[in-house]
Amino acid sequence: MKRHKIAELLKTDKPVGSILIKGWVRTKRNAKTFSFIEVNDGSCLKNMQIVVDGKTSNYHEIKKLTTGSAVAVRGKMVPSQGGGQQWEVQATNIDIISMAPETFPLQKKRHTDEYLRTIAHLRPRTNKYGSIFRIRSELAYAVHHFFRERGFRYIHTPVITGSDCEGAGELFRLTTLNPPIPMTPDGKIDYSKDFFGMESNLTVSGQLSAEMFALALGDVYTFGPTFRAENSNTSRHVAEFWMIEPEMAFCDLAGNMNMGETLIKHLISFTMDNCAEDLALFARFVDKTLMNTLENIVDSEFVRIPYQAAIDILLKSKQPFSFPVAHGADLQSEHERYLTEKHFKKPVIIYDYPKTIKPFYMRLNDDGQTVGAMDIIVPRIGELVGGSQREERLDVLEQQMASSDLSPENYWWYLESRRFGTVPHSGFGLGFERLLMLVTGVSNIRDVIPFPRTPGNIEF
Ligand code: 4AD
Ligand code: MG
Repeated sequence: MKRHKIAELLKTDKPVGSILIKGWVRTKRNAKTFSFIEVNDGSCLKNMQIVVDGKTSNYHEIKKLTTGSAVAVRGKMVPSQGGGQQWEVQATNIDIISMAPETFPLQKKRHTDEYLRTIAHLRPRTNKYGSIFRIRSELAYAVHHFFRERGFRYIHTPVITGSDCEGAGELFRLTTLNPPIPMTPDGKIDYSKDFFGMESNLTVSGQLSAEMFALALGDVYTFGPTFRAENSNTSRHVAEFWMIEPEMAFCDLAGNMNMGETLIKHLISFTMDNCAEDLALFARFVDKTLMNTLENIVDSEFVRIPYQAAIDILLKSKQPFSFPVAHGADLQSEHERYLTEKHFKKPVIIYDYPKTIKPFYMRLNDDGQTVGAMDIIVPRIGELVGGSQREERLDVLEQQMASSDLSPENYWWYLESRRFGTVPHSGFGLGFERLLMLVTGVSNIRDVIPFPRTPGNIEF
């Protein structure tokens, strides 16, 4: 017999005569002649209430069922007698697939997020984390759907690479334990040349590869894991995160901003329309203002201001920031949050940053001092998107590389794209975990990725 998913069963509006549910016991309550068992199968937030009669043949075992045990339930779904749920299942038969011992850590009580991080292998079995990871899955699907609808092609860019897109020195170097192990002339292991005799690292961004494909297929995107060796313990940084990176040929900075704004609004609306039940849990238990925040983002027109103007606002604000605000300095997350949460109270796109604080590939503006960069900052998160128009002029790009101490030999292929049919093009990267923090109201990035990679966190 086919297994029914609880999510599907609860969508029906009629009793179902014969069903089979497989899932895990959340709670059990024994009455005199029967028991109530709440079963969850992960397909949705809701449990199915199972009513099992004391005359059932293995009732003496069913009575002992513990939280976390796995069961297969056969029976019929009928209108529930009690309050709290529309349907319940009258079981004709319950097979105990496995009995969990009383040491199962997720007994019915509230657990802190800090504790649940120490059992990241079990936390998806809680309501909150089940909801987070269902939303994560839905949103990943929505990303592909969004781009496909607009004629973008999905490009698989490499995870192992010889280049450093951002030039920020946050690379994880690759090493191998397979012989022949590269050695330096003085007999030590040469970790710098471990990719079959060449230097390699984990990618920090798929952008440079995606650019090559934008210059062939027009509009492309990549969506995959990226890595940053920043040893920082913040609630917004992980060493391994997923990034959505569109890259568009014949697109300028304004077009890039439009795409970023449209994408963010679309993904939020999609979650509100398609994950209402899971989202309601966060609006109720995590952030009471969540729905207002999300509606406000979808309905607002994002503010667009140049970097200079943003700095002026911050200087005038007289806020006691921990990091000083100065023309030419990078914006810190506290500055971004002041602008988006306190000053404008909506998302802000900051553009035209000083070239000295941005990577080599961004397009130099006519003033010779700023580049066509754009960051999108949003309430509670700060930077959600970082992007730019790319430098498409070969001579300017070569100068920019020289002033960033990058050797043209290593980037010969990138330079060739500016030699053969170069066109204005733009793109950006949107941090998928930061998006999930935004839509769920969850305040720590470690709680929206299945197994977070942060300093000290590698065991799962
Ligand atoms: O601003 P970033 O560094 O931009 C790039 O890497 C560009 N090459 C992207 C492009 O234009 N195709 O990173 C983009 C976004 C940030 O705005 C942030 O949302 C996220 O990636 N991000 C991180 N998320 C979690 N943990 C980290 N350590 C992150 N670093 C960046
Ligand atoms: Mg950035």
